[in-house]
Amino acid sequence: MEKQEIGTVTVVGTGTIGASWTCLFLAHGLDVVATDIREDAEAELIAAVERCWLSLPQSLLDAGRRGKLRFSADLEAACKETDFVQENAVERLDAKIELMHRIDAATSRDVIIASSSSAISVTDMQAACAHPERVVLGHPFNPPHLVPLVELVGGVRTEEVFLKQAECFYAGLGKVPIRLQKEIYGHVANRLQAAIFREAIHLLESGVASAEDIDRAVTEGPGLRWALMGPLLTYHLAGGEKGMSGFWEMFGPMQEKLWRELGSELPDPALQARVAAAVQRSHQDTASLALAADRNLNLRRLLTVRTAKSID
Ligand SMILES: NC(=O)c1ccc[n+]([C@@H]2O[C@H](COP(=O)([O-])OP(=O)(O)OC[C@H]3O[C@@H](n4cnc5c(N)ncnc54)[C@H](O)[C@@H]3O)[C@@H](O)[C@H]2O)c1
Repeated sequence: MEKQEIGTVTVVGTGTIGASWTCLFLAHGLDVVATDIREDAEAELIAAVERCWLSLPQSLLDAGRRGKLRFSADLEAACKETDFVQENAVERLDAKIELMHRIDAATSRDVIIASSSSAISVTDMQAACAHPERVVLGHPFNPPHLVPLVELVGGVRTEEVFLKQAECFYAGLGKVPIRLQKEIYGHVANRLQAAIFREAIHLLESGVASAEDIDRAVTEGPGLRWALMGPLLTYHLAGGEKGMSGFWEMFGPMQEKLWRELGSELPDPALQARVAAAVQRSHQDTASLALAADRNLNLRRLLTVRTAKSID
């Protein structure tokens, strides 16, 4: 099943992630049937899609495509005659199992059911499905209408053919799918983020630097390189002509000492409150919606520069 055979996508759950997916699908000319259980979900979705639309890549805007958006509060009706389901509801195991069961019963058996779940395993989510072979993880990065990464993996009952079809579908939307060779809690990118986040909290709690400066240490430093190459290739270059083995010669002992020292605080409620207060203090003048809009416009500019560079 190629992307062009998919004409209608059902988006289940229209919060932060579902709305951004909806914007991307529409911009590729796909029709979207969205569903959510919140009373005001339809109006909020329409507003969120318009906000996302403002930061879509110019090439997509120039293409001038826009599929039709329809909302149905009835999950089963929203799944009727769909070609692909992207599930983005609440991140709770019992809710995901129940939803997958209902989506599975409401869709034809060749329709891929992809979950955006940040950490729940497909094996768990497909447990109550009569046709679990088409249930996959399609985990995006926020906001999916801009950030290319999608993490793909199946559960024990998923069939490879559906993973290939999902990979092809996402690639056709300009996404960059990566395949996990096995399931792991939090997948790949969230685990990498968690490692940085945990150390950021450790540095904050230890009074080493302010919240603003810890964030700047990423955005003005390694974050710039990470937009171009990952942590492995970055250190390969740090090792000079000998590459990664040169890196270990030079920095192996330092890495060993650092790994032993890295923070291991657990996010109990008191720690969570202190971190929330510190971040709130540093951004108190700017509302989250404005910060997100600014981030999206800058992401769009960054992606344009990266694309131009790789074409050179
Ligand atoms: N926020 C992120 O940065 C991010 C990134 C990647 C993946 N995800 C994943 O995406 C999913 C959604 O996250 P979010 O941040 O958009 O959450 P959110 O709270 O903004 O949205 C979830 C939406 O799902 C709806 N919902 C709950 N139960 C439902 C049901 N039974 N049927 C239909 N809709 C239902 C809620 O009303 C809500 O609108 C989660 O699984 C999360 O792990 C989140």
